[in-house]
Formats: sequence, structure tokens, C-alpha cells
Amino acid sequence: MPQGTKPLLEVLAGRRVDPPPVWLMRQAGRYLPEYREVRARAADFLSLCYTPELAVEVTLQPLRRFRLDAAILFSDILVVPHALGIPVDFVEGEGPRVARLDPTQSLPPFDPEAFDRHLAPVYETVARLAAALQGRREALIGFAGAPWTLAAYLLEGGSSRDFAGARTLAWAQPAFVDALIARLTEAVVHFLDRQIAAGAEAVQLFDSWAGCLPPPLARRLVLAPLGRIVAELARRHPHTPVIVFPRGIGQLYPEALTLGAAAVALDTTAVPEALVARASGGPALQGLLDPAVLVAGGDVLVREVRRILEVLRPVPHIFNLGHGILPHTPPGHVAQMLAAVRGERIPPA
Ligand code: CP3
Repeated sequence: MPQGTKPLLEVLAGRRVDPPPVWLMRQAGRYLPEYREVRARAADFLSLCYTPELAVEVTLQPLRRFRLDAAILFSDILVVPHALGIPVDFVEGEGPRVARLDPTQSLPPFDPEAFDRHLAPVYETVARLAAALQGRREALIGFAGAPWTLAAYLLEGGSSRDFAGARTLAWAQPAFVDALIARLTEAVVHFLDRQIAAGAEAVQLFDSWAGCLPPPLARRLVLAPLGRIVAELARRHPHTPVIVFPRGIGQLYPEALTLGAAAVALDTTAVPEALVARASGGPALQGLLDPAVLVAGGDVLVREVRRILEVLRPVPHIFNLGHGILPHTPPGHVAQMLAAVRGERIPPA
């Protein structure tokens, strides 16, 4: 590997790196005592996202504790609807609450100037992180929620087990939902464009609720918008790789490999064998590890890490979880996981 090259960016450029670069979805968060300490100093969760000093600090915390290959901007997917003027609130122990949008209302207007004014602290956080990571091995990842997942929160008015309300609207009011997806697509492209301009070296699109849609809706509301975002970012920033994470897309994963993304993130239920065969010359593959096996730790974790390394050996691979780290994960198990990925002696938990 040429000196000064970041392993994560090597893999995103289509080259295999052994051992693979590693980062973890939600690597900054409540499982770290140092995060909980900073979180307690912020008035609420959104102020943490909008205070560059604190957001930079919590972004870098996991890099101080562990040898990781990337930092992911500390923010939340719901800052995009918030910047579009929609009330968003994080209720302790309940998850996000979002003002519900129904088809009798007009869509939130997208005014790029007002949007950027609202998100200026996030761009400032990205710029400070880019400066802090200059010349280091860790790449800086920016991110956004994908249009369907954002729409799901807006149409439902918050979290839901199955987003039945949002799905019903997707069937019953297709023109309204398509227009909402188009509006969110425009905002997401702009948001990622600004993060890249501020110094993000790669970006990931989180489509956390892709899996609640049947295939015809998933093609229309998940895969098509992801493809449009990848294409538009490729036009504006041809050298910045995009990772897509259509969580739960199941048998449509092969179609996700054809969107033009530099990498496709696999959830915990994805079957990698068939994808590896199709992915030669295609995107890098990221993910798979069950966050619950990271909580379990020890021998079972080490065996599962080795199994994933083996299955994804033929393709450019970014080691990661299949979904975000769980809040009760012992930090010592992350150290065990990293040692297993790198073939080092496994530390006690
Ligand atoms: O370290 C990182 O990965 C960067 C930070 C990050 C957060 N959220 C911080 C956060 C990222 C990348 C996200 C993405 C996100 N947010 C997703 C997509 C990924 C996924 O998990 O599917 C989604 C669906 C959200 C929406 C969201 N934000 C939910 C459902 C919740 C509440 C559940 C919970 O864990 O409390 C949040 C809050 C949130 N976002 C927290 C963190 C660290 C916890 C809030 C707190 O610290 O009080």
C-alpha cells in the first residue's frame, strides 16, 4: 500500500486490503463512558449534534480508545428533516419523535440557504474533523439518512416496529410519497455535497428501514432514489466514494450491487456467499457482524469474525457490524473483535 494512503479509501477504490480496514456503525455512543460524560454536558441530544466542539470530541473518542480505520461524523439522520423546518425531538428512552406529515399538507420547502444556515455547525464539525485527521490512517466518513428512511419517520411521526402507516401511504398516496422522496433526495444530495466540500472523504447513506417494504415499493422508494443520489454525487464529486446501506433489503441485495456505489453495507441477515460471486469487479462489501455477538464477546465472537473474514476474502472488504453497536456492548469486546480481525492475540474482556 503506498505510504500515506488510508486503508478504508484503498478498499473503496476497489482494492483488497488484508487485514481489512475496520469501523463500526454507531462507534461513538452510549456504550462508551466518555461519551455519556460529554452527553451529560449537552442540554439535549440535538445540541450535542449542533455544537462542533462537543461533536468533534465524541467523534474522536472511539479513535482514542481503539485502532479503527475511520471516524464517522457524529450527528443524526434526523438533522435533515429538522433543517427543512420539521420539529424533531429525542425523547429519553423512547427514540425520536418527528412532527407527522400527512398528504393534506404541502411538502416542506427546500431552501438551500436556510438549510445550510441550520446545518452550518455540522459542516463546521466536518471541517474540524478533516483537519484533525489530516495525515492519519483514519478516513473521515460523512453520512445522511436515505430518503425512504427519512420519509418513514416523517409519515409515521416517529419510530415504529413496522412503519405500517408510512407503508400504507406509499400504496394509497403514491404521488404524494414520490414527491416527498424527490424532495428529500434533493436535500440529501445537497447535504452530502456540503459535507464533502467541508472535507468528508467518503459518505454513507443509511436506509435503516428499507426492509419493511415489499419488493415493488423497495425498488421504487429505496433502490431508485439511492441510485439517483449515487449518480448525482458521482457527477459532482467523482473521487468521493459512496457507501449504501439498504438494511433488510434481503433478496434485492444483488440489485443494490448495481447502483454504482463504491461499497454496499450488508445487514446481519444478508447471505454473503451469493453476493461475493456477483461482486467481483463490483462494489466493496461492508458489514454483516451481528451487534449481539459483539455483546457476547469471547470465543464465539472470534469464530464469527473469522467466518466473515473467510467469506468476504475474495472481494474488497470493510469489516463492520450489520447494524449499529448496542448500548450495552462491553468496550473490551470491541478490542477483542479488532484483535481477531488483525490476527493478534485476543485480550481478556
Ligand atoms: O457513531 C456514529 O455512528 C455516528 C453517529 C450516529 C448517530 N445516529 C448518533 C446517535 C449515526 C450515524 C446515526 C444514524 C441514525 N440515527 C440512524 C441510522 C442507523 C441505524 O441505527 O439504523 C437512525 C435510524 C437514526 C435515528 C435515531 N437516532 C434513533 C432511532 C435514535 C434513538 C435510539 C437510541 O439509540 O437512542 C437516535 C438517537 C441517537 N443517534 C443516539 C446516538 C448516539 C443516542 C441518543 C443519546 O445519546 O441520547
